[in-house]
Amino acid sequence: MAFYSVNGTKRNDRLTAGWLAFGYLAVACVWILMSDRLVAMVARDADVQLALQHVKGVGFVVVTAVFLYVLVLRELRARSAGESASRMLATVLRNSSDAISVLDLGGRIVAWNHGAERMYGWTEKEAEELEVRRLLPEEGQSEIEELLARIRGGEALVTYPTRRRTRDGRLVDVWLTATRVSDETGQLTGVALTEHDVTAELAASREVVRLNAELEERVRLRTRQLETANAELESFSYSVSHDLRAPLRAIDGFSRALLEDCAGQLSSTGQNYLERVTRACGRMGQLIDDLLELSRTTRAPMSVATVDLSRVAEQVASDLRATEPGREVEIRVAKDLSARADPVLLRAVMQNLVGNAWKFTSQKSVAVIEVGMECDQEGQPVYFVRDNGAGFDMQFAGKLFGPFQRLHSESEFPGTGIGLATVARIVGRHGGRVWAEGRPGEGATIRFTLSPEAG
Ligand SMILES: Nc1ncnc2c1ncn2[C@@H]1O[C@H](COP(=O)(O)OP(=O)(O)OP(=O)(O)O)[C@@H](O)[C@H]1O
Ligand SMILES: [Mg+2]
Repeated sequence: MAFYSVNGTKRNDRLTAGWLAFGYLAVACVWILMSDRLVAMVARDADVQLALQHVKGVGFVVVTAVFLYVLVLRELRARSAGESASRMLATVLRNSSDAISVLDLGGRIVAWNHGAERMYGWTEKEAEELEVRRLLPEEGQSEIEELLARIRGGEALVTYPTRRRTRDGRLVDVWLTATRVSDETGQLTGVALTEHDVTAELAASREVVRLNAELEERVRLRTRQLETANAELESFSYSVSHDLRAPLRAIDGFSRALLEDCAGQLSSTGQNYLERVTRACGRMGQLIDDLLELSRTTRAPMSVATVDLSRVAEQVASDLRATEPGREVEIRVAKDLSARADPVLLRAVMQNLVGNAWKFTSQKSVAVIEVGMECDQEGQPVYFVRDNGAGFDMQFAGKLFGPFQRLHSESEFPGTGIGLATVARIVGRHGGRVWAEGRPGEGATIRFTLSPEAG
């Protein structure tokens, strides 16, 4: 068997042989025609001429014999090199772990290697008598006829996964490769089949598919459980916050009634205590309102649209200016910022972030607030709100997004600590993330992303 084009090589061989024969013919003819004249020129004596004729004849025969010797030797060497290569290849094929067999055009097995013996259980001798259908599973009895038809139809290589039946009736998954077998003249004489056992690979890939499906099912189940738990928690915190209002209103109302109706019977310390109670009620009322707001943020259905973020930021900024017209704050909003998000929720994000920047720059003589957008490494937009206000210690940066987590005192900067928790929930609902950077006294930057798939 050779790994080159047989037809092309044969043509070249014929050409080389033709040229050699032609060359030999030409040289021999010229020699025969010219040599006699040469002899006649060299010697005039008839005896000498006869002797020279003999030498010439013998020389010609010797040269021809040497020429023949070299050619035949080369041919024999080439043939034995080819034969030993073929023998090596035959050994490799014979011992291959793949099942290799050759069928003639009638579908009869004419060659059967050790791999086929091991895989299917019939010896080479037995295979010669074997009805090829015995190798085929019930559902694929016509496979070999179809394969032979394709090869006869001109296909040089046919390859596909299939099944084989072994001597003991087991089914083996194999990957089949079929190639044409031709004689020296190029005439199709049969088909060579290489069958690689893929049972283990198939079992492994089936297992991977099964495990994946199982994993997906588990993830779906866990997600459902988590969603249910979340929904329960939300409705629980909503009703707790809601139900807390009634007793709180009672405490507040009766404290005020005491202060108004029974002020005469109370000492100044008693009155002071009651005032503290009503202030605490007010604060608790604010906390409940904020909790309810946070709960609503998570429960409200979302409708995603393209939002003009620059406009939203400008509006929030102008609302803030209206509340404290005396303050000098430079607010720089980048132009043409847009985002895919729920418009109401995104406005709440900006209200909280720009609101914080406004609040935490209140002690700066020159306050600067910047709203803009950068791109991350994947080219996705990262929105930011930056200020040059009070800043914070980065050590606590992770805490800021939990409800009621505050890094500044109520007396310095009022607030309940629910704003950034709301922002985190909204951003989370949009599939994005939010993070903060700051330095005490040097300002803070809050960045957030929104998932591009949102909507
Ligand atoms: N721009 C900022 N500069 C400095 N610190 C900030 C900034 N934004 C948030 N923080 C810190 O994070 C804490 C939490 O912020 P968050 O907005 O949740 O609460 P708050 O503004 O204090 O109250 P609320 O928003 O409920 O009125 C703040 O109390 C503050 O310590
Ligand atoms: Mg806030």
